[in-house]
Amino acid sequence: MLDSKPTLETLLNHRSVRKYTGEPISDEMLTAILEAGRAVSTSSYLQAVSVVRVRDKAKRTAFRQISNNLSEDKYNNLIAQGKRLGHGYVEDCAEYLVFCMDAYRHHALADVNTDWTEVMLIGAIDSALMAQNMLATAESLGLGGVYIGSLRNDIQRAGELLALPKHVVPLFGLCLGHPDWDSKINQSQRPRLPLDVIVSTDTYQTPSDDVLSAYNDEVKAYYGGRGLELDWRAQIAETFGGDVRPFMLDYLQSQGFAKR
Ligand SMILES: Cc1cc2nc3c(=O)[nH]c(=O)nc-3n(C[C@H](O)[C@H](O)[C@H](O)COP(=O)(O)O)c2cc1C
Repeated sequence: MLDSKPTLETLLNHRSVRKYTGEPISDEMLTAILEAGRAVSTSSYLQAVSVVRVRDKAKRTAFRQISNNLSEDKYNNLIAQGKRLGHGYVEDCAEYLVFCMDAYRHHALADVNTDWTEVMLIGAIDSALMAQNMLATAESLGLGGVYIGSLRNDIQRAGELLALPKHVVPLFGLCLGHPDWDSKINQSQRPRLPLDVIVSTDTYQTPSDDVLSAYNDEVKAYYGGRGLELDWRAQIAETFGGDVRPFMLDYLQSQGFAKR
């Protein structure tokens, strides 16, 4: 049996790990991680999730291009100019897993309707739960990882790279590897909203402006410590302030999801 850290210690120590030593993950560890994902709870016993392990180097590069939101040509040009681009961890991590919500098997076995929005929610929830079982297991084994939602920058291309059939949609990736703890990028934990903001009893409690403002200041101080001029408000505005991947509904519908 592999040595692992206790659950609570593992979960409370979480931080995304974006720099790795390059050491591979042993077969024993990888199997333990995947089995822990397989054992997760699943809505109505539907098991509406599949995982694609991306080992091919060219595909890893393509996934990095997608995360950088760049076409292959633009990406190659910038690399040739020696420009520093983000998301190198998609290429460098020991394992890159893509989590897909999956209604393919249900169609193969039965005459079913999976174009309801509810089915999409089931698939997305099943995928997230399985992935988090895997990440928590990896962290308990001394590994680290980071989710990659930016594969949805070009979800169509992501699906094509993995040859996904209809009724299967790539939702996010997960990089895993041995953490390089000397790297600053892995060292700090991002401050979370206070417990009494995220948890209320019996009825939903709206947070006061003061509490939100205090948290915003805490995040600002956290980023300041990393030499960045950023706060939570700015980060929210950057993500939700404009169009948010507006092509998503078309893609989901083309794959047979969320038509009604
Ligand atoms: C579904 C999901 C998608 C994410 N996508 C990305 C991503 O594309 N790139 C990245 O660097 N981090 C990504 N992250 C990591 C988050 O930025 C990170 O979890 C968050 O900032 C909190 O930091 P922490 O995990 O270190 O506590 C993602 C996280 C989640 C849960």
